[in-house]
Amino acid sequence: MTKFPKGFLWGGATAANQLEGGYDRDGKGISVADVMPGGKIRFQVLGSEDFDWSLDQDKYIYPNHRGIEHYDRFKEDIALFAEMGFKCYRFSIAWTRIFPKGDETTPNEAGLKFYDALIDECLKHDIEPVVTISHYEMPLHLAKEYGGWKNRQLIEFYERFAKVVLERYQSKVKYWMTFNEINSAFHFPALSQGMVKSTGGGDFKNIVQAWHNQFVASSKAVKIGHELNPDLQIGCMIIYATTYSIDANPVNQLATMKQNQEFNFFCTDVQVRGEYPAFTDRMLGERGVAFSDLEITDEDLALIKEHTVDYIGFSYYMSSAVTVTEEDADEVAGNLLGGVRNPFLEASAWGWQIDPEGLRLALNELYNRYQTPLFIVENGLGAIDEVKEDGTIEDDYRIDYLRRHIEAMADAVADGVDLMGYTPWGCIDLVSASTGEMSKRYGFIYVDLDDEGNGTLDRSKKKSFDWYKEVIATNGEQL
Ligand code: BG6
Repeated sequence: MTKFPKGFLWGGATAANQLEGGYDRDGKGISVADVMPGGKIRFQVLGSEDFDWSLDQDKYIYPNHRGIEHYDRFKEDIALFAEMGFKCYRFSIAWTRIFPKGDETTPNEAGLKFYDALIDECLKHDIEPVVTISHYEMPLHLAKEYGGWKNRQLIEFYERFAKVVLERYQSKVKYWMTFNEINSAFHFPALSQGMVKSTGGGDFKNIVQAWHNQFVASSKAVKIGHELNPDLQIGCMIIYATTYSIDANPVNQLATMKQNQEFNFFCTDVQVRGEYPAFTDRMLGERGVAFSDLEITDEDLALIKEHTVDYIGFSYYMSSAVTVTEEDADEVAGNLLGGVRNPFLEASAWGWQIDPEGLRLALNELYNRYQTPLFIVENGLGAIDEVKEDGTIEDDYRIDYLRRHIEAMADAVADGVDLMGYTPWGCIDLVSASTGEMSKRYGFIYVDLDDEGNGTLDRSKKKSFDWYKEVIATNGEQL
């Protein structure tokens, strides 16, 4: 018996703003990602009180503008994915290529032509496209002039965008996700909701209102997609961070339960079950917000109830530990959420705590709660790779990370979890979302480009390239 089901979707994942480049080509508008400075100061700048989405090219560099020039080299990149045997490729459609400012009524044909070609290239290689409709790259105009997702008008703009791409690609693309890491707004609403402190991103009421508007928008996309083609599989997408209490103290256990509910389950409860969870009032109340203060109509609630998602896509990189009793516990970094140091785990060079067993727990937690198919659409190790004199890159640390996580997936499948596929993040090196660095690399394919923008952009295969090819060829038997 094989560990993974027949037809398991092995592949890789990227996002338009982190690899395409060509940020102002062929009518593309400016997105929020295009004004995020590169370097470790990125979140500090975005999180400051006075950040107002201004571009300041004298002060900062903007690596997303060039990405890895996938816009011009996508055929070469997809050929490499095909050589690894990818069954699927997860990418996103840049909203600003289709609707440059976001509030137009007619789409930009040149932008659509790019995705026509990209999707056809995947299909030519028998690679199933998996599309994220919105991945941290909403039009800047919507963030600046409309104040981001807290504004209800965005539902209509997103619906128009989603309708255009769903109609155009419904016969070619079966798997979709409506919003990347929708729950990330809990700690950082700039990326997914287009809200910073100067436009109300520091106010939890705005975050919840924005979520509600996104839930409605997501359900509208699900409705449109299913009406166009009932075979379409449209998922939600969250960051999942397995969360442990630091010890057996019931007070810490309770804090852990709350963090789990609020961070890991709030959005999925709404998008999968179609209803706000029972703990909503408490979660909002503890932050001074009343559900009745939000702009929510009966029609919204009916729509959310009726048009739930078909599967749960999620990213998993690390786990988190919680304490409310240890005041001097070491804080650690993490994927848009922090936590305290877990003494049983090692961390990546960026401080993310590596935890393959946590993935098995995540898969079981999610599956037991929802009994809905799961798709791991991001996982991987951000690391500094060294190119040897002969050009080889021995990324055994990455192979080790991925191997242990795939073993955990196999264990979860044996536990009975319905797992559809696995698309490790940044299958080709790209610009990091949290720090805008190139040196934080995830890929099987190396791209010769540094943090300052120097390099030939040549692609080369890392050791993990052949390793992953074998994993796919043997459907996960050979690790
Ligand atoms: C996820 C995002 O949070 O993690 C990706 O969906 C991101 O866009 C990935 O790139 C890895 O994070 P980072 O900050 O290392 O690029």
